[in-house]
Amino acid sequence: MCGIVGYIGPRAADEVVVAGLRRLEYRGYDSAGVAVVHDGEVTWRKRSGKIARLAETMTAVPLPSSGLGIGHTRWATHGAPTDANSHPHVVGRVAVVHNGIIENHEQLRENLVAEGAEFASETDSEVAAHLLARELATGATLTEAFRRVVQQLEGAFTLVAIDSNDADRVVAARRNSPLVVGIGEGEMFLASDVSAFIEYTREAMELGQDQLVELTRDGAVVTQLDGAPAETSRFHVDWDLSAAQKQGYDWFMRKEIFEQPKAVADTLLGRLNNRGEIQLDELRISPELLRRINKIVIVACGTAYYAGLVAKYAIEHWVRVPCEVEVASEFRYRDPIVDPMTLVVTISQSGETADTLMAIRHAREQHAKVVAICNTNGASIPRESDAVIYTHAGPEIGVASTKGFTTQLAACYLLGLYLAQVRGMKYGDEIAAILAELQRMPELIQQLLDRQQNVLELAVEMQAEPSVLFLGRHVGFPVALEGALKLKELAYIHAEGFPAGELKHGPIALISQDLPVFVVVPPKSRDQLHDKVVSNIAEIAARGAKVVVLADAADEQARKHASVFIELPTTSTLLQPLVAIIPLQLFACEIATLRGHDVDQPRNLAKSVTVE
Ligand code: F6R
Repeated sequence: MCGIVGYIGPRAADEVVVAGLRRLEYRGYDSAGVAVVHDGEVTWRKRSGKIARLAETMTAVPLPSSGLGIGHTRWATHGAPTDANSHPHVVGRVAVVHNGIIENHEQLRENLVAEGAEFASETDSEVAAHLLARELATGATLTEAFRRVVQQLEGAFTLVAIDSNDADRVVAARRNSPLVVGIGEGEMFLASDVSAFIEYTREAMELGQDQLVELTRDGAVVTQLDGAPAETSRFHVDWDLSAAQKQGYDWFMRKEIFEQPKAVADTLLGRLNNRGEIQLDELRISPELLRRINKIVIVACGTAYYAGLVAKYAIEHWVRVPCEVEVASEFRYRDPIVDPMTLVVTISQSGETADTLMAIRHAREQHAKVVAICNTNGASIPRESDAVIYTHAGPEIGVASTKGFTTQLAACYLLGLYLAQVRGMKYGDEIAAILAELQRMPELIQQLLDRQQNVLELAVEMQAEPSVLFLGRHVGFPVALEGALKLKELAYIHAEGFPAGELKHGPIALISQDLPVFVVVPPKSRDQLHDKVVSNIAEIAARGAKVVVLADAADEQARKHASVFIELPTTSTLLQPLVAIIPLQLFACEIATLRGHDVDQPRNLAKSVTVE
């Protein structure tokens, strides 16, 4: 939520900052602004709406040339998305941008108003600008004044500030909200994520919790908020600018759907040692401890939660350890039973989701070990976990998660197989057979992407539907939930996912010729699962509904009742979600495009949900 950029160096700061904001726009896009220091003055432009509107204003009324600037793209929490509520907030000498929520803002505001401060916005963030102006008035340096301010703030923040009297410095601090430093030659960058400065440098430094950074043209000095020295770690970003560009696609989302064969292959890459055993290098938890755990709890939000639901089926089947899956925002509020024998697995593409982060803290307080499955190097979630499995999917910029989901699935399967291996629950050849099937999945996903035409035609046919149901059973159920979520968030069509077996316990009352139903059919296997789902399809078809069936290409039983049949490649039941979700992603992307929506930036949403 909210994207932040800061720059100091020889380039035109306004251009660097706006270019960075464009790459962070996925984080929030209801207003934006930029401030620079020029000739001992802070000058700024800010506008409600997307960055394109801000850019128009900056073309009409250009900012003065400057090598020092900050910028912000907003996802509103306190105060509507108006010009006045946009950041930066400028008070006297200072300009401030903020991401997060200052929880004690009301009290701070009251005190400031009592002292005579006049507020120009309804935001919680503006208090930080007033506090900073007040501290600077005591004669403190920018860094010292800033340190005093952040120590007064409660809640979550990434705060960045500049001072018109100090053209050699940008200061910033973070608590529960992301911030990375980009290290260039004679220039330095700050941003909510590396994509904002990837065009200029791939060398970066993570900022830890409760740290403050002072940036000059020549480097960065990092300290704890209280001034104590801080340890930092540098890293090299292993992707480049092209990964953060659309490369001819109309939407980042479509590009990311098509990147899935490579993304899944990258998640699986290098996970076997020379004895053919699974090796998860980043999993810094000893096999002895993994043998002792007696329960697994998976915690995540949204799409990542659905990946967790799939993981439960695989883990319980392969590892024979009870596995619960819980929405992160519910987890810590219900006093969950978690102890040192519990392995908590968190799943997060961004690594910054506040609900998931808070769940991790709660789990660690109960002395549980936490493994994060994450896509973003050095983000808060992997930093605060005991171990991490990175998905290596490359940047996911479209707000709706696609390659995030499939790579999370791949990582969950790897974790499940690894646990089965260390706990001796499967023979080596059984694990090798499942791994071999996993390795084939990128090719199967590619086959589906190569024949997407029928899905695109279906989207044309269904673009005016007001409501759609999605059904699945076993691992097909989370796929149904994810298919419904994609349609809701992108096409703004009411959609719900149900376990197919629940149909006759209520939802069947909705079935009529006016309600299309998608059904994910599991492959034929030893149990009755497939036949039960085929019976469900027959029940729906008998009531006149249009049934879109996703099933194995050779599944003639399922095809018989289908109004539209979407062929899936042959897989085992547990791995089917990796292919079954692809047509549903394409369908949602296409229908949203046809309805004229902004697919990459759906209304009211933000990519990285850093508030609870
Ligand atoms: C839906 C979507 C969200 C995220 C959820 C968790 O398309 O993207 O539901 O999956 O907000 O985000 P991460 O994975 O970043 O923790």
